[in-house]
Amino acid sequence: MKYKVSPSMLASDYANLEKELKKCEQGNADLIHLDVMDGHFVPNISIGAPVIAAMKKVCDIPFDVHLMISEPLKYIDDFVKAGADIITFHTECDSDINETIDRIISLGCKASLAVKPNTPISEVYPYLDRLSMVLVMTVEPGFGGQSFMEFTMPKVKELREKCPLLDIQVDGGVTLKTVKIAKQAGANVFVAGSAVFKSENPKETIMQLKG
Ligand code: DX5
Ligand code: ZN
Repeated sequence: MKYKVSPSMLASDYANLEKELKKCEQGNADLIHLDVMDGHFVPNISIGAPVIAAMKKVCDIPFDVHLMISEPLKYIDDFVKAGADIITFHTECDSDINETIDRIISLGCKASLAVKPNTPISEVYPYLDRLSMVLVMTVEPGFGGQSFMEFTMPKVKELREKCPLLDIQVDGGVTLKTVKIAKQAGANVFVAGSAVFKSENPKETIMQLKG
C-alpha cells in the first residue's frame, strides 16, 4: 500500500502560506490538509473558504479540507468552489451524512468521513462504498500539537481488515515515532502538523514520514 503524507497547514506560518506550501511541494507531499473549525463543533476557530481559495492559487497538490464544523452540508458548495479535492467531515456532525456525501460527490469532489477517538469505526460502515477515504482521529479534534492516542489503533486495524484498498488516514500527534505505530495498524495516509512545520527541515520530515 502506498504511504501518503498530508501536512496540516494549521501548524504552518499563516503569514507566509505560499512559502509553507512550497516546502510541502519540495517534500513531495501527497495532499495538503486544511483544518476548518467553527468554534462550535470544536472549541476553536481557524480558517474558512476564502483563505483556502487563496492558497489553491499557489499550490498544485490536492487539497483535503477537514471540516470540524457542526453543519458541513451548508458549506460544501463554498469549499468545493474554493478548491477542495477531498472533503472530510465528521460522523458526529449535525448534517445528514448521506445528503452531505451526495452533495460532495455531485459537485465532482471526493468524500471522506472522520471519526473522533471515542466513536466506533462501525459508524462509517454504511457509507464505505461512496467514500474515497476514512479518517480515524488520533487526538480529540480542535487543536494541533496534542499527543497521539494509541488506543484508537484497533479501529484502524478493524477497518483495514474490512477494506484492504481504502485510504485510511490518521490525524493528530503523528510524529516520526508514532507514524510507525499507525503504519503497523494499517493506516496509509498521515496528517502531520507540528511534526512537519516545527521541524528544522520540513521537506526532509515529510520524506521521512513516508519512509
Ligand atoms: C486537529 C487537527 C489536526 C492538527 C494536527 O484537530 O485536525 O489536523 O492540525 O496537528 P498535529 O500534527 O500537530 O497533532
Ligand atoms: Zn485535521
